[in-house]
Amino acid sequence: MGSDAKIVLGIESSCDETAVALVASDRTIIAQHIASQEKEHAPYGGVVPEIAARAHAERLAPMLEAVMDDAGMRLADVDAIAATAGPGLIGGVMVGLVSGKALAMAADKPLLAINHLEGHALSPRLADETLAFPYLLLLVSGGHCQILKVEGVGEYRRLATTIDDALGEAFDKTAKILGLGYPGGPAVEKLARGGNPKAVPLPRPLKGSKEPHFSFAGLKSAVMRAAQSGEHSSADIAASFQQAAVDCLIDRLEHALARTDAVPALVVAGGVAANQTVRSALEGLAAKHSMRFVAPPLALCTDNAAMIAWAGCERLPLGDSAPLDLKARPRWPLDPEAESVRGAGVKA
Ligand code: KG4
Ligand code: ZN
Repeated sequence: MGSDAKIVLGIESSCDETAVALVASDRTIIAQHIASQEKEHAPYGGVVPEIAARAHAERLAPMLEAVMDDAGMRLADVDAIAATAGPGLIGGVMVGLVSGKALAMAADKPLLAINHLEGHALSPRLADETLAFPYLLLLVSGGHCQILKVEGVGEYRRLATTIDDALGEAFDKTAKILGLGYPGGPAVEKLARGGNPKAVPLPRPLKGSKEPHFSFAGLKSAVMRAAQSGEHSSADIAASFQQAAVDCLIDRLEHALARTDAVPALVVAGGVAANQTVRSALEGLAAKHSMRFVAPPLALCTDNAAMIAWAGCERLPLGDSAPLDLKARPRWPLDPEAESVRGAGVKA
């Protein structure tokens, strides 16, 4: 780590991952811990907000201690505290934000209130120091499916969003329909490897539409009908669903690329960016448009605190520390100018 590097402590608690990380502005991940709440939520087939908030509250304090211990550091060695302040499940966000405020106050360090989506949007720059602004970003997670032009820190232009479900949500619902449990994305991807992506005729909602947006609700219903028909194997349904989803992503990205000034890089972030079929399709699209393709390592795609600490590193030089009475924001669009679209997710 460079001696003039700043060190930021990051806290993430907006959904079902409790996470703490120490990251330096020279891109060193000094220490990080992450605890998933999969076991707590699995019996309900999805995240239960009350259970999530309680689990964050139980885990955060010991995790903060463990991360500082791993790094062999004290709070005095840290230059700022970055906590997710939204969007997400309000109870969980409050737990993380209040802890961040307490640490900032106790250690007399600036508090950086981070938009969880900004954490995802800037995470590729933590992994790749050569990635400069601007870039075209596909942000695909459990709560969001957006195409953004990332022009700088805090400068996001939303080009498209979903009018109903997020893609991660569609993966999770497909998993539920196929009896694969929660979280569904990785399970659907695994099952799809043994299936035929052309076996089940499924729709590609909004493909070819003049509008820029995504829609996945119709695809989910079609998956349900295909499963109920009893005519197809689960593997064929999973593979066909994944292929339909990827076709939609590529079509909507082509739409966006045709309508924006050329940018040098196509970047993917968010939980669904862990999917290999999605990654290779995007890589092909980038090559076709002579763009670089950048995808963060898998552990940086799904929710984590290193991306929150990194967003803090990016924001620290801007000097915008948050007041200690700052409120958690269940909704917090990255691009406040973008028109509101029915159904765009609350979850991050
Ligand atoms: O970014 P993330 O960890 O949390 C949110 O902020 O939403 O994304 C979680 C979503 C879940 O819907 C999960 O099923 C999906 O990302 N996901 C995947 C894969 N890994 C996680 N979807 C498809 N393929 C994967 N390998
Ligand atoms: Zn997320």
